[in-house]
Amino acid sequence: MAIATVTLNPAKDRTVFLRKFRPGQVNRAEGEHLAPGGKGINVASFLGDYGVREVYALGLIGEEDMGLFRSAMEARGVGHMFTPLPGRVRENIKLSDLAEMTVTDVNLPGPRWDPSHLEALMGDLKRCPCRVVVISGSLPPGCPEDTVARLVEESKRMGRLTIVDTSGEPLRLALEAVPHGVKPNLAELSEVLRLPEGPEGILQGVRRLREMGIGLVALSLGADGAVLSSPQGTVLVRPPKVTPITTVGAGDAMVAAMALGIHSSMELWETARLACAFSLCAITRIEEPRVEPSAVRDFMDKIRISEVEG
Ligand SMILES: Nc1ncnc2c1ncn2[C@@H]1O[C@H](COP(=O)(O)OP(=O)(O)OP(=O)(O)O)[C@@H](O)[C@H]1O
Ligand SMILES: [Mg+2]
Repeated sequence: MAIATVTLNPAKDRTVFLRKFRPGQVNRAEGEHLAPGGKGINVASFLGDYGVREVYALGLIGEEDMGLFRSAMEARGVGHMFTPLPGRVRENIKLSDLAEMTVTDVNLPGPRWDPSHLEALMGDLKRCPCRVVVISGSLPPGCPEDTVARLVEESKRMGRLTIVDTSGEPLRLALEAVPHGVKPNLAELSEVLRLPEGPEGILQGVRRLREMGIGLVALSLGADGAVLSSPQGTVLVRPPKVTPITTVGAGDAMVAAMALGIHSSMELWETARLACAFSLCAITRIEEPRVEPSAVRDFMDKIRISEVEG
């Protein structure tokens, strides 16, 4: 049985490379790269890169960009069951300053949708032969805030294991539906649970998610790594010091590894190490982020992992 990813608010990520970004002036680009993106799309792509068979990407895709999204999935061996929307997919422009190693984001709005599109997506998800369902990213404007929670409930009713990666009110409502896995970063979780600052806030956040009944919690901490927790225990993974080339997909790569961990019944420590290695692959590639098995293996040895008191 397969892993499915759902992207309700996909995007095209256009990265523009600049030797030095000068705001308010004419900037000449060194190069650019256009990739279909959106969090669930990224998760599916990373699983495809890693050689996982039976991955399906689902989502609401502006039909004028359908070809771009379908061919990107096919190139990575990922199946697709996209639900068409009228118009184009929104575009996220990333201005990459090669001198300062900074990225400036400009996000454009996306197409309009109506409830019938959401029902069509629910139908596609029901038909998809999957066991693990990843629901990732933000909601398109006007989409009911309980949409992720509804997808979790529907999936659970069908006996599927869900992983949620979203933020704000959609995350808070999704947590009430008790997904199997969740991957907030610290800012996202603090906003929803109102955590105290510092290490006790991190541990309290993880503990409260586990007490809600969530089976696999990953609280990501950027360059400081992540805390993962399941009934098997709680671990802290620490990445080696790296220079990120891009910020696109660090969290998504981690979610991809969680989905694989759940799908293949991995031990917690193994999932944690894999999740960290996946994220490092995503942020350190000069070209588009990819999770290559050889790079994952190289990173695995460099990751430090320790048990923490849950
Ligand atoms: N600067 C960094 N150095 C090393 N590892 C990093 C760095 N940034 C991110 N990572 C790795 O990526 C993981 C996820 O990063 P982060 O906590 O930033 O996720 P996120 O905020 O959800 O990202 P996204 O913007 O993709 O949603 C981290 O747990 C860590 O393993
Ligand atoms: Mg994230």
